[in-house]
Amino acid sequence: MKEQELDPLRREILGAVETAESREALEEVRISALGRKGRLTALMKTLGTLEAEARRAAGAALNRLKADVEAAIAVASERLHHKDMEERLSQERVDVTLPVEIGGEGRVHPISQTIDELTAIFGEMGFKVAEGPHIEDDFYNFTALNIPPEHPARQEQDTFYLSEQADGTRKVLRTHTSPVQIRTMLAEKPPVRIIVPGRTFRSDHDATHSPMFHQVEGLVIDRTSHMGQLKGCLIEFCRAFFEVEDLPVRFRPSYFPFTEPSAEVDIGCSREGGGLKIGPGGDWLEILGCGMVHPKVLEVCNVDPAEYQGFAFGMGIERIAMLKYGIPDLRSFYDSDLRWLRHYGFLPLEVPSMVTGLQR
Ligand code: DAH
Repeated sequence: MKEQELDPLRREILGAVETAESREALEEVRISALGRKGRLTALMKTLGTLEAEARRAAGAALNRLKADVEAAIAVASERLHHKDMEERLSQERVDVTLPVEIGGEGRVHPISQTIDELTAIFGEMGFKVAEGPHIEDDFYNFTALNIPPEHPARQEQDTFYLSEQADGTRKVLRTHTSPVQIRTMLAEKPPVRIIVPGRTFRSDHDATHSPMFHQVEGLVIDRTSHMGQLKGCLIEFCRAFFEVEDLPVRFRPSYFPFTEPSAEVDIGCSREGGGLKIGPGGDWLEILGCGMVHPKVLEVCNVDPAEYQGFAFGMGIERIAMLKYGIPDLRSFYDSDLRWLRHYGFLPLEVPSMVTGLQR
């Protein structure tokens, strides 16, 4: 087999490669030439029947042809790829001059709404908003708050610990917003009057617990702060937030390591007919913890307990949002279900007020 004898085949195959109009057509050409039953492959198979010398010459000629065909296919494949791309680009072009359809305005998430509302209420009482890190030192989250090492809150099942650092200590995901009390008192001289809305984390997950949730902390430090102010402030808040002017609010003695005395606060409700209604009604719902800041906590923060006193409180934001807006399942807050958000979400630009509540 001479090189020239292959010329007609060469012209035919290379011609077909060059004129292939699509990647599918090119693939067909390749298979018909180089595939298992392709024409070049068939010729290669005949080499075994030739004499040694003839076989060498024919083998070399066939290999050259094969290499040329492969190279031509590679070039054609590139060309067709570009052609595909051009076609798609021209078909999928977006006409930016078309008028925009303004559909479905957004909704404010109930957590954001609740934070806005409580910030407005406490804001009118003279509180400013403070923040702190989510990844917290053991010191701020526990020790400085008079939570001793053997306290159950420190145990692994509640607290997310980060891996050990070089000095052997482990950071935690803050289990409450209370560490911001410490950070604020160490950074600012009294008088202090802050609220701290923010994320908190505990290793807990069911219908009423989420590993990430929100709290709002409150802290007031002044020379004349006393328990009466604590009560007045929280009664006022509960009535404004739940928008029930005669809402019963009761303080029950309790225990927190960082306050003395400590109390838990319940609001009145009724459960008539299976439903829950916030307001006068003979039943009670616990909503927050509070107390007078423990002298040990003041001392850690270089605040002289002989000169200053203060009160603090903390509550779960999901809980008060669920109660106020009748949201039954805590987990739904974080499902990112747009239908849920359209139902429970809020229109933007509503202005909450302490006196009238939300104006709708
Ligand atoms: N840190 C408490 C908790 O997570 C809540 C709390 C109770 C905060 C009483 C306070 C307080 O500031 O005085 O359960």
